[in-house]
Amino acid sequence: MEKIAIGFLGCGNIGCGVYKLLESYGAQIEANEGVAFDVRKILVRSLGKKRAYDVDERLLTDKPEDVLDDPDIAIVMEFMGGNEPASSYMIRALEHGKTVVTANKMALASRWDEIVAAAREHQSGLYYEASVCGAVPIIRAINDSLQANRITSVMGIINGTTNYILTRMSSEGAAYADVLADAQRLGLAEPDPTADVEGYDAAYKLSILSTLAFHKHVPVTSVYREGITNVTPLDVQCGKEFGLTLKLLAVAKEEDGVVQARVHPTFVPNAHPLASVNNAFNAVYVQGHACGEMMFYGRGAGDMPTASALVSDLIKAAKTKRHTMPAVAAGDCVMAEDWHCVHFIRMQAKDQPGVLSYVCGKFAEHGVSIASMVQKGEGEQSGSVQLIFLTHTASEKAVRTALGEMDSAMVIQGSVIRVEGKQ
Ligand SMILES: NC(=O)c1ccc[n+]([C@@H]2O[C@H](COP(=O)([O-])OP(=O)(O)OC[C@H]3O[C@@H](n4cnc5c(N)ncnc54)[C@H](OP(=O)(O)O)[C@@H]3O)[C@@H](O)[C@H]2O)c1
Repeated sequence: MEKIAIGFLGCGNIGCGVYKLLESYGAQIEANEGVAFDVRKILVRSLGKKRAYDVDERLLTDKPEDVLDDPDIAIVMEFMGGNEPASSYMIRALEHGKTVVTANKMALASRWDEIVAAAREHQSGLYYEASVCGAVPIIRAINDSLQANRITSVMGIINGTTNYILTRMSSEGAAYADVLADAQRLGLAEPDPTADVEGYDAAYKLSILSTLAFHKHVPVTSVYREGITNVTPLDVQCGKEFGLTLKLLAVAKEEDGVVQARVHPTFVPNAHPLASVNNAFNAVYVQGHACGEMMFYGRGAGDMPTASALVSDLIKAAKTKRHTMPAVAAGDCVMAEDWHCVHFIRMQAKDQPGVLSYVCGKFAEHGVSIASMVQKGEGEQSGSVQLIFLTHTASEKAVRTALGEMDSAMVIQGSVIRVEGKQ
């Protein structure tokens, strides 16, 4: 059987995983699917570097043109990471009529318009299942299996590092910094964890998911983003007392043509399917008007789970005679200026008569209705108490305004954490 010539951009964790999967399972793929691949060139930065897998050194090059301008190479697999030069290389490959298979959420989310335009204009294939949630086939589900639905919401645990940290904070009552240090020791968090813990990684992925779900571009710059660095064991514990589990959730909803897309620490009821997604696992919970609710769950990172998505895309690309582009209309989504949800609010208040009615009065002034409240004995400063409120569904702006107007001599605000999935 004639083999399809492919080139790699990058050969780090993921590139080595793809190489290994093609080497170990390529013959079975050929038998099952009737397609075979020949890795012709692999672009890397350092030719002499020791690699995680025994890659044929004769394939390595540090010249991008060896991959991008070789007319024999039909499919370029990109796993260099970062925005540049990865975006420019992908665009160049697409302009040369090559198919691109990528795992790069940052490049795709940041340069969506240009990358998709290059694919559309040159009728080249563009495949990116691995860019969101590793092995979990959420892109293909939205693009190929749920087209009969108007998707109304997508909520996901789409960053394994933060889910690992929050799972341990929840099960052990441990502090954020201690668990982060452990995660770094175990290789589950980068030495510079900013992209994960500040929610950037999840925001890139949510931009891609919501663009596909709502058929209009949701720029990553329109995604509200808040990381987990300020989460305290006290918040986690207080949430538990209300029957809630804390997750870093990526939430996108569409109503009457207006979209909200946000990444932030979020409480979900313990009975919600997302509450039991633990450690480094990922899950995406989708609601469609015809399909109802469904959840996609699995490994969102790692060399082999990510290679699973990349090689599946490679097979699909190879078997596709006419590539199709995502069903995304021109222009950007109209983004919501406010959103409504239940809010968990913890504050430290002076332990004196009238404080509770003062706080409740301020909430009432702004139409924020309280569903339940717990008062806990002495706080960190003597003479104060912890007040923990769970609101009814309330406007984010109204909650912020009410809190902003409260007298700091009476209350010190601790945390505001949104709650999703609560009826
Ligand atoms: N790691 C995961 O679990 C995971 C999961 C899903 C998606 N992804 C995505 O997959 C991509 C790759 O991740 P990774 O973990 O494999 O990264 P990595 O280990 O850092 O590998 C990057 C590779 O790209 C090469 N490279 C980087 N910049 C280059 C340049 N300017 N010119 C030539 N070669 C260059 C590096 O060459 P050298 O080896 O010579 O340094 C290396 O081989 C990223 O987009 C990431 O977001 C990763």
